[in-house]
Amino acid sequence: MARIDQETVNRILDTADIVDVVSDFVKLRRSGANYKGLCPFHNERTPSFSVNKARNICKCFSCGKGGSPVNFIMEHEQLGYQDALRYLARKYNIEIVEKEQTAEEVQAQNRREAMLAVNEFALKHFEHNLLETDQGRDIALAYFRHRGMSDAMIKRFHLGYALDKGSDLLDAAREAGFSDNYLVDTGLAGVSEREGQRRLYDRFRGRVIFPVHSLSGRVIAFGGRTMRSDKTLAKYVNSPESEIYKKSNELYGLYQAKNAIARRDKCILVEGYFDVISMHQAGVENVVASSGTSLTEGQIRVIRRFSNNVTLIYDADPAGIKASLRGIDMLLAEKLDVKVLLLPPGDDPDSFAQNHSAGEVEAYLAENERDIIAFKTEVLMRDVPANDPTARARVVNDVLRSIAHVDDVVKRQEYISQTSRMLSIPEEVLVRQLNVIIAGKYEEDARNAAREQARASAASLIGDKPEETPGTAPADGSDSSQTAADTPLLNLDNNRLRPYEQMLMRYLVRYGLLHFVELTDESGAKVPATVFDVISSEMALDGVTFSYPPYADTFEAIRSMRDNGFWRAERDARLQQIESEAAAYGEELREVIRREGGSIDKIAHEETEIARKVDEFRHRAVEEFDIQYTQTHLVNSPVDSVRNTAAELLVDKYTLSKFYTRNGDDLSEQSQLGTLVPAAICELRNALVSDIIKELTTRLADPANASDAPAILQQISEYKEYQRQLATALGSRIILPKNR
Ligand code: CTP
Ligand code: MN
Repeated sequence: MARIDQETVNRILDTADIVDVVSDFVKLRRSGANYKGLCPFHNERTPSFSVNKARNICKCFSCGKGGSPVNFIMEHEQLGYQDALRYLARKYNIEIVEKEQTAEEVQAQNRREAMLAVNEFALKHFEHNLLETDQGRDIALAYFRHRGMSDAMIKRFHLGYALDKGSDLLDAAREAGFSDNYLVDTGLAGVSEREGQRRLYDRFRGRVIFPVHSLSGRVIAFGGRTMRSDKTLAKYVNSPESEIYKKSNELYGLYQAKNAIARRDKCILVEGYFDVISMHQAGVENVVASSGTSLTEGQIRVIRRFSNNVTLIYDADPAGIKASLRGIDMLLAEKLDVKVLLLPPGDDPDSFAQNHSAGEVEAYLAENERDIIAFKTEVLMRDVPANDPTARARVVNDVLRSIAHVDDVVKRQEYISQTSRMLSIPEEVLVRQLNVIIAGKYEEDARNAAREQARASAASLIGDKPEETPGTAPADGSDSSQTAADTPLLNLDNNRLRPYEQMLMRYLVRYGLLHFVELTDESGAKVPATVFDVISSEMALDGVTFSYPPYADTFEAIRSMRDNGFWRAERDARLQQIESEAAAYGEELREVIRREGGSIDKIAHEETEIARKVDEFRHRAVEEFDIQYTQTHLVNSPVDSVRNTAAELLVDKYTLSKFYTRNGDDLSEQSQLGTLVPAAICELRNALVSDIIKELTTRLADPANASDAPAILQQISEYKEYQRQLATALGSRIILPKNR
């Protein structure tokens, strides 16, 4: 193909505006002097793609891609430099004077371009068939009219017709100079082998045609619908996947809908070709179709470039409703705000849009959108028999799993409140179970990441050092045994301490801010202390910290939770609330007695019983708050190591089963904390001290240290004495079991 002359190139470069060019693919928001949006080159949730209008360049600060308008188009559309210029020339109606090209030259230049060119040719041909041939007008155009399609929509969506006649398209394409290869590659032609003869045939015959456009408006595929109601015929024939058509990344109608989606900040999802077009015709243009399959991550990613709000429209039949619930977790995980809308029974978007005025359609949309979680809860509960707690628990879990995909903490809390109301389950119970699910999710992510990393490093080992076999000595001949000179003063085995640290950390992530004991201060007054308070003050006494960095991070995270005002403020608010709940509860109990009456003695007895119950209620509620606050904040921490630690240590197979059998109360461990925590501290100390003693003993045995022997011996005996003190002091002196 001829090169574009320099003068034309300059004109293209001068005309192409980066904001304008990028906006065709990315929803941009103004941000100071620049524009920002979600990077189209990698999957991201917070915009790091920046466009500088003045300098006419763009750049992703995360993946680094970007550049001038030409660079952007080259990268985004996977075009060569010359073709990117042609793209821009077309966009800005700049004429490129070139010598006539043959179809062969186009192919030689760029395979993709050639396939797109064949498709473009086919599109024109199908449109011509529909509008300019007798068969097309009599059968296909009549069919579209019968289905209520206006001329404007037929033109806008480039609807067409594949003649029911021999190899009509094939013949025309060959005559225009297109080679068979690309007809086969695009799937416009099928191949049959008969008696050793390879023959091509038209894939689309006697069908009305819906072209599928890429985001940039190129024709990448076709769908062809039969007009016969013969059930033995496939209703649709579609283009196969190809180099230019990755079905899972495309949405039908997006090219026509993208501006409306960005403008209205909402994307409506329907199932089929007719649904999209009829909605457009009714004036609702922000509509796309997944073409009968469930949504993919790739499709969601494309939608998110234009809007974070998605409304799923489905038929009211049971299959449609079930379909609407599939894939919603993926939408929620991608940070989309998901609504669902059911049409009146018997309608699909196509029929509904055809039978109502534009105003009625808009009004229906506005009034009947529902939040997806509420919808899911309702739909699932509908099938649960009244007295089936197992089925009910399954639904609760299913709904919570969806909620777990919501990243936004505020939104998640709203969902919890809403679900609590709908299912009459206390929020606390839901939050606890949600935490278990989220922790499990993080754990699974971490496992997958670890597996991935193991695979990668195994692969790199194989790739980098094929000659090395396991078990042989390192190539540099070094010896792994250390010399006395570089032995550190105290070489504590952190791996050996890990289980003891883990035990303490486990109590910290589960109960860190729970007030579980009362300490006696200097004046003899009793002061409630949290698990964190006790562990941190005990560790400070010894001058030790967590040696495993993720635990050290988590420890500090709990400290800052305790020290910042939010916890106190939230806790005080909750305490007030609990007071009034407790008062109401006491009133309720008293009311029963009033009704029953009885002797003065009995009533006096009942009164103390009530006071005890109310106390117990208050106590439980406060504990519930402290535990929940700790777990929720840690498991949602922005710090990876903290989140992962919490996830790892919160997940406990027993918690889940106990949730079902004992209604959310894992009392056994919680009620034992008064002894479990001190025991864990004691064990860590003992491990620590015996490690030190062991190290000192090793050093003592080394002849090189002979002159230091008396000093080392002295140290050993001091540590042994300390170990003895520890064993007796702990548990009796500082920690008092809380008296309940
Ligand atoms: N579809 C398909 N192949 C089929 C059936 C359906 O590719 N055999 C896809 C098409 O994209 C279709 C969508 O799934 O548009 C929805 O299917 P359906 O509701 O059956 O088709 P409609 O397009 O609504 O067709 P109609 O209203 O004419 O029945
Ligand atoms: Mn339909």
